[in-house]
Amino acid sequence: MANEKTFYLETFGCQMNVHDSEKVVGTLISQGYRQVESVEEAGLVLYNTCSIRDKAEQKVFHRLADFRKLERQGKKFGVLGCVAQQEGERIFARAPHVSLVCGSASYRNLPQMLVEVEAGKRSTGLDDRQTTETFETEFTARSNPHRGYITITEGCDKFCAYCVVPYTRGRERSRTSDAILAEARHMADSGYTEVQLLGQNVNSYRDPLRKKTFSELLASVGQVPGLKRVRFTTSHPIDFTRDIVDAIDAVPTLCDHVHLPVQSGSSRVLEAMQREYTREDYLERIAWIKAARREISITTDIIVGFPGETEAEFEETLSLLDEVGYDGTFSFKYSPRPNTPAQTMADSIPEEEKARRLAVLQEHQKQIQTRLSKRHTGQTIEVMVEGKNRAREQLIGRTSQNKPLNFTVTAGNPEPLPGSYVRVHVSASFPNSLLGEMVG
Ligand code: SAH
Ligand code: SF4
Ligand code: F3S
Repeated sequence: MANEKTFYLETFGCQMNVHDSEKVVGTLISQGYRQVESVEEAGLVLYNTCSIRDKAEQKVFHRLADFRKLERQGKKFGVLGCVAQQEGERIFARAPHVSLVCGSASYRNLPQMLVEVEAGKRSTGLDDRQTTETFETEFTARSNPHRGYITITEGCDKFCAYCVVPYTRGRERSRTSDAILAEARHMADSGYTEVQLLGQNVNSYRDPLRKKTFSELLASVGQVPGLKRVRFTTSHPIDFTRDIVDAIDAVPTLCDHVHLPVQSGSSRVLEAMQREYTREDYLERIAWIKAARREISITTDIIVGFPGETEAEFEETLSLLDEVGYDGTFSFKYSPRPNTPAQTMADSIPEEEKARRLAVLQEHQKQIQTRLSKRHTGQTIEVMVEGKNRAREQLIGRTSQNKPLNFTVTAGNPEPLPGSYVRVHVSASFPNSLLGEMVG
């Protein structure tokens, strides 16, 4: 089919971007496009981009440079997401073969924008950052038939000193609890058993209809018939209230996992980061989580080398890791970002020192995880089956605590299918995964 419209989409960045891409794919398919698996096969090449750190931002410009010569074959190129919103029309100057630049709050305009692009014009959709709209679409093309994302809030009003998100995603706005629950019910009816509620700060959720608080919404989603697991990410410590833990205790489908980014263990650094809580405030929230009736796994995000971070302050972060006992951490070297308050502070920690602190922190955390993971050996834990590792002859499962638990099935027993739930006896534990045998 010579005139068939095809597109290739590559996604960078966080779960919000992954889920936005599912909505974009659905929108393009509804416009008569077919998704293909390589740049070479595509008429339209799209990158859904991330600008959280400089390295992430550079990736898209490298991709665009790699494929520039393909423009001669008549391919069109488009940049979506956070770099699109941040750089706007400057992208055309850096990569003249790009004809579409669209930020996340303008995706509802994609159909018209695509018509312009196909007609050989350039099209930009840059958001008015004051928008109160959310991207509601019936066309979401979810990539997994068993577990899926549901956006509950978009944007961020927190303005942490280092972070670009409030400038790339606009102000914080929430969907109505009715719309969220309708989507959850629809997903359950379509066979989904796990949903993950998404937002830059899910727990600052404010129902525009004032029907539900965040924890009430969580509990209601958890009670949707057919759903077996409900996750939510990301929680901001300042909005993390005790009733969230109460909801987890009360509703068995709410998963035993909280991702609570701390960023630093030093109250002085937290203040400079404009995080609005101290180490002690944070530890109070951890104490609530640890007091739950169920054991809840805790993970976090950390930035090392924020402007002015002293060695002693860095060590406070190490001691916080010991004190909390995280089941997992995502740690990053501070990267100065455009428009942010921290950009005006001297980026005072040299690159090599940031790299050293990151390596020390990651090694420290690995020791902690090796030690903590051992508690699972001998336990029998339910997993959702995600797939199979053929090379190792193991099935891949995930626990409610969000840990990979790989397992074998005793000879003669049927292999469980992806999406099913089985119980696994844990025989060995590693810092980032568990190993076991299926028991039923
Ligand atoms: N909304 C979430 C996370 C957003 S970004 C929250 O507030 O926790 C994910 C993580 O990237 C952040 O938690 C932070 O650890 C990291 N990050 C954000 N900006 C960064 C920067 N300029 N340099 C390095 N890491 C950064
Ligand atoms: Fe960025 Fe802070 Fe908002 Fe998280 S809460 S997205 S770190 S500004
Ligand atoms: Fe990146 Fe934008 Fe997400 S900057 S982390 S893709 S909100």
